[in-house]
Amino acid sequence: MAWRFKYIIAAAVVPFLVQASTATAQDARQGFKPDQAEFLNSCASCHGRDGKGAGFLTRVFRGVDPGDLTQLAAVNDGEFPFDRVFQVIDGRDDIAAHGDRQMPVWGDRYMERSMSEYGPDELNRLRVRSRILELTNYIQSIQERE
Ligand code: HEC
Repeated sequence: MAWRFKYIIAAAVVPFLVQASTATAQDARQGFKPDQAEFLNSCASCHGRDGKGAGFLTRVFRGVDPGDLTQLAAVNDGEFPFDRVFQVIDGRDDIAAHGDRQMPVWGDRYMERSMSEYGPDELNRLRVRSRILELTNYIQSIQERE
């Protein structure tokens, strides 16, 4: 009799366990946003987690004001300045606080030149460009008004 009881319990519980574990896997997939991770990794220290400009470095270096990245569209007649933001990241558009072209504050993550030092690989160019694209798309996604 006892073994039957165990089977009944198992039959009742297993579907819940299966459901619970798929839910966790789904949450994990939804929770990880590569473009946001890129921003948190390279930019949030100054621009703040929400892009509004209150990153912790602004408290360390008083007087540094990164502006509000959620207002880029609003102050540009409602149009997100996609190319400009892309160029700020790839270094074509200089911003003093980002460091110079040879040594930007975020290191070599967005430089094709440095990627090539890890070996000639046709995909390097693509990898760097897609990182910059992700980041630019992310900043576009946090615009408060467009
Ligand atoms: C060391 C601090 C620091 C870090 C790290 C940093 N920024 Fe900035 N950023 C600034 C400051 C300060 C300004 C404002 C400069 C100015 O107004 O002259 C700025 C300006 C900008 C602007 C121009 C905003 C405008 O009004 O046109 C963009 C776009 C930008 N940052 C993107 C980024 C991105 C993307 C990253 C990460 C890859 C990043 N920043 C990392 C400090 C930083």
